Order: sequence, then C-alpha cells, then structure tokens
Amino acid sequence: MTGSGNPPVGAGGSAQDARPSKGGSFHEMWRELYPIGRHPDSHGYRRYAWTGADLECRAWFKAQAEARGLVHEVDRNGNQWAWLGDPAAGDAVVTGSHLDSVPDGGAFDGPLGVVSSFAALDELRARGVEFTKPLAIVNFGDEEGARFGLACVGSRLTAGQLTVEGAHKLTDGDGISLPRAMEAAGYDPEAIGPDPERLSRIGAFVELHVEQGRALDLSGDSVGIASAIWPHGRWRFDFRGEANHAGTTRLVDRRDPMLSYAETVLAARREAELAGAVATFGKISVEPNGVNAIPSLVRGWLDSRAEDQASLDRVVTGIERAAREYAAAHGIDLDVVRESFTPVVEFDHALRDELARILGKDTDLKVPVLGTGAGHDAGILSGSIPTAMLFVRNPTGVSHSPAESATEDDCVAGVLALADVLEGLACA
Ligand code: GLV
Ligand code: MN
Ligand code: MN
Repeated sequence: MTGSGNPPVGAGGSAQDARPSKGGSFHEMWRELYPIGRHPDSHGYRRYAWTGADLECRAWFKAQAEARGLVHEVDRNGNQWAWLGDPAAGDAVVTGSHLDSVPDGGAFDGPLGVVSSFAALDELRARGVEFTKPLAIVNFGDEEGARFGLACVGSRLTAGQLTVEGAHKLTDGDGISLPRAMEAAGYDPEAIGPDPERLSRIGAFVELHVEQGRALDLSGDSVGIASAIWPHGRWRFDFRGEANHAGTTRLVDRRDPMLSYAETVLAARREAELAGAVATFGKISVEPNGVNAIPSLVRGWLDSRAEDQASLDRVVTGIERAAREYAAAHGIDLDVVRESFTPVVEFDHALRDELARILGKDTDLKVPVLGTGAGHDAGILSGSIPTAMLFVRNPTGVSHSPAESATEDDCVAGVLALADVLEGLACA
C-alpha cells in the first residue's frame, strides 16, 4: 500500500468502508496525514521533531483547526493548540497527543490521538451539544525524542520538568542543537521555558492512544482506560577501547569495546528477566565504524522500564555492575550517564473513575483499566494537572514499527468513546 493510494486504517479495516455519520471525518483526516513522512521502502514513519515531515504534520494540524473555526496557536515550547471557546476562561478540557514518530514508526502512535480528537469534536458538533467549558486539541512537540534523545520535550518544558539550560544542551546526531533546529523551522527558541500559567487554565487533559500491548486484544475490548505508566528511563553506556587493525592485531593485544558492549546486552536481558522488567539496547553508535577496524568507542543506549521503582533500580544497577566487570576484564573504560528518567505515573483517580462512569453508563460492561510500559505526554502533565488516557485496541500489540495497527471499527469506537468523555467533561 503506498501513501498515494487509499491507506488502510489498520488490519481488518479500510478507509473505503468509511461510515460518514460514525467517525466519517476521521477517515478523510487519516488519508491526508497518512503519506507525510512515510518512507517508501520501509513504509515506516520518519517524522522527527522540527524536520520537514514534522512541519508538514504541523501545517496539517493548523489547517484542521482553521477548517473548524478553532483558534490555532503555537505555545512558547512549540506545542500546537486549537481552541474552541475562550482559552483564558479557565477549567479547559484538553485532548490530543503527538504527530512525531520514532525511526520507522507506525501510523498510529500519536496521530491516532490527534485525528480522533478532531473527529470527536466533529461528532459532538453533530450531536448538537452545548460546550460549557473551553475545549482544546493539542499536538505536543517531540514526544518520541527520536532526534534529540529525550522524550516528551514539548510537555516537559511546559511542565518545568526540562530546564531551558537542559533543552539548550540537547543535540541531534549531526550536532544541531534543539534551539537551532527550532530556529531553522521558524520558531523562536528564546521563548522556551515553563508555562505554569497555561497549565493553570486546564482542568483536565485526556489523551487517546493506540494500545502498545495486547491487553485489550486479550480481554476482547475495543477501548480501555489507563491506570498507570511504569517508571522508565534512558541510559547511555560509553565503552572506550583502542582502534586498531582488524587483520593484524592479535586477539590478546586488543582492547575491543564491542565485546564488553555485547556482554552487557546479554546481561540486560538476564537482569530484566530476573526482575520481571524490560531492558533494551535499541540504539548504538560505533567509532570509527569501519568494517576492518577494531572500534575505539561503542556507545549504546539502554531503555529500561519496570512496574515499580525498586525493580527498575535493581535492573539498571545490575546491568551497570555487569558492564563494569566486563569492561575491566577487557581493559575498557566505561562511562554510564542517565539521559532521562520518568518516575511512575498514577493517573488521577477521580478523573479515571469519571471516565469509567461516562463510558460505562449505557452498558453493563466494565471498561478495562490497564497499566502501560510506554511513556506519554499525559504522564508528564500528570504532575501538574489531572490527566487520563484512553487506549484503543491494537490486535497484534506491535508498536514503534510499521506493523502497528488498529481496525477501522476500533478507531471509530475510540472516537465515539472520546466524544462521550469530552461531552461528559465539557458539555452541559
Ligand atoms: C514513547 O512512546 C516511549 O514509551 O518511549
Ligand atoms: Mn511512542
Ligand atoms: Mn505516543
């Protein structure tokens, strides 16, 4: 399926089956967004912060806002907002997600929440409801951290969880700093910083997201409510040895950091298994990166997450201890730097219960409440304002991959659930 054809909504559904009265605008938006940043060979998305694809997504967001008569604004940290009603009135209900992606990401992680937000607003207008509170749809910038290494930069800056100084230190793989990238994209990097006044005007933030696991598939439900996000972080391991000739250097004379790195990857798997946690080395850079050269530096990034802080500490401490032992055995210098960390998030109980009440009111079914190992802007904001999340079933659970999917019926169910929630929170 190419970006110019009729894109699938996901496994088991197609945009051609669109039902105009139920999530109809969803399909049109999905079709428009679908080709942006999609790589022709991998079919994965490469929508990295402040690149051309990201700017195209931002232009799409602005056009959607304006087409609905919403007031579009970009805040001091580059997040986009589309307002219905007076933003200054306070107690606003905000929904939305992000449009950027991981390298070769799927179509749903982020965009499903943004597209569903606009579609839910269309649904509410079709219902003829009266809004009693301001409503906003948001596109948070740089959620995945694919370019600058830190996730949720837009929401972290807004919530004061990333300092301006810290943001200035972020650089991409080509050495371009975040402020320079923002500037090149036409934004004023001098403006970045905490935005408590904006947050004080928000009464609730609800983020809809594709599920990144199989809990809903296993329970047989289209939509669920989030309970908590596991604590998680990213650590950089720098193994430094000595560059040398791959053909002439005797094995005993080598100081090859790749060996310690490889042993550390295996240790990460072992430690994670022991703690019932997860640990992943998914990104690596090697210097000088020549086939016939023993590396001088292997830099690997560890992503680790666990249900509770004590388990996460145990995993990361165990991996670091093992890495130091391997490095010492091979004459390798090792530096370990924690690049980011997000503590456990318990979503606001009152808001979560309110969502369950709204979604359960016309049915005897209990909406499943689930935890997740994935990070989200809603998790970052939960320290400042009441936040909640809705998950839409992912039939395979695959995420951060072009194979990520959701069926058309489930996407529509997500839109309707979000519309019900927004109606319950923002309407008379
Ligand atoms: C973001 O999707 C993350 O969980 O890393
Ligand atoms: Mn993601
Ligand atoms: Mn996401």
